[in-house]
Amino acid sequence: MRIFLLCIVSVLSLLAGCAQTSSSEDTKEFILAHNQPTNHPIHESLVDFQRLLDEKSDGKLKLRIYANGQLGSEREVIEMTQTNAVQFTKVSASALESFSEAYSLFSMPYLFDSKEQFRDVMKMPEIQDAFYNKTEDNGFIGITYYDAGVRNMYTKDRILETNEDMHGLKTRVQPSKTSVQMIEALGGTPTPMGFGEVYTTLQSGLLDAAENNESALTDNKHGEVAKHYFYTEHAIVPDILIMNVEAYNQLSDEEQQWVREAAAESTALHEPRWDERMLESRQIAEEEMGVTFHKIDKSNFMEAVRPLQESFKENEATKEQYDLIMGAKEENDEQD
Ligand code: GCU
Repeated sequence: MRIFLLCIVSVLSLLAGCAQTSSSEDTKEFILAHNQPTNHPIHESLVDFQRLLDEKSDGKLKLRIYANGQLGSEREVIEMTQTNAVQFTKVSASALESFSEAYSLFSMPYLFDSKEQFRDVMKMPEIQDAFYNKTEDNGFIGITYYDAGVRNMYTKDRILETNEDMHGLKTRVQPSKTSVQMIEALGGTPTPMGFGEVYTTLQSGLLDAAENNESALTDNKHGEVAKHYFYTEHAIVPDILIMNVEAYNQLSDEEQQWVREAAAESTALHEPRWDERMLESRQIAEEEMGVTFHKIDKSNFMEAVRPLQESFKENEATKEQYDLIMGAKEENDEQD
C-alpha cells in the first residue's frame, strides 16, 4: 500500500513539477495534503485558501487538495513537503516538533491561558516570524496557522476528577516528545501514534483515552468509542500550513504575496467557522453519540505539569520563541 502511495506521489510530483515549469499555460499547480475528512472545518478553510489563491492570481496558481490522509500520516507528508513531492501540507504544530524543536513549545501544557489570548498572540508578525522562517534548512517554511481548538482529555469509560485518576491510563498522544512528557507528568501511560490509527486502536481496547478538540469525537468518530470528555484544557496547539521552501522561492514576489494573502485571509475566515463547528460537534456528540461532557477542576492537572513548563525556561532550542510568546502574552493582557 505504502509503495503504491509513493508511486502515486512520484507521478503527482512529476506532474506538479511539469505544471510548475510549463510556460505555455502560465499556470502552476501545487499539491496540498492533510489528514482530515472533507466535512471537517479545517478542510473547508483549506478550500477557502485554494479559492482565494485562484482568485488573486487570476487562475495562475492552482491547488490540488488531497484530504483524509490519502498521501500518508502527518509525519509522512511533512517528509514529502521537505522533498517537494508535495508543496503544501497542513499539520499540527506537535507533528513539526521532531523536525524543528522550536515547535515543541506549542505542545507545552497551559502555554496559553485562553483561546482569545492564543488567537491574539498567533496573529502577531514577530511571533509568526520566530517560527515560520526558522525552518528553511529543514526544507519548508510556515505560511499561516489555523485554530485547531483547545485540547481536552477523553476516555472510553474512566471518570477523571484529578490527574491521579489518569494512573495507568493508556493515552494516545501525538508523536511529540513534549506530549509524551505531559501525559507522563499527569500520571498516565502515553502512547504516541498517528491520528489515523486512533479510532481503531481505541476500539480494539489497546487505548483507554486520547486528547483532542471536540470535532475528534464527531468528524473522526472517536465519540463512538470514547464516552467521557473532560475540559482539562491542557493545550492549545495550532495547525500550521507549511510550504516547500524551493517551491516558494521559485515564485515571483507577486505570487508569494498572493500565497501569503490568500493564506492569511483563509485563517481569518476559519475562526468563526471553527467556533460554530465545535459547538455543533459537542451537541452531536452529546445527543447522538451519548458522550458526557464533564467540567473538571484543572488545578491539580496544572500543578502536575509545572516542572515540564519550567523546563522550557531553560531550553535553548525554544528560548527565543518562549520569551517572545511570554512577552506577547503580557502585552496582550495589558491591552485587554
Ligand atoms: C488535531 C489536528 C490534526 C492532528 C490531530 C492529532 O485534530 O488538527 O492536525 O493530526 O489533532 O491529534 O493528531
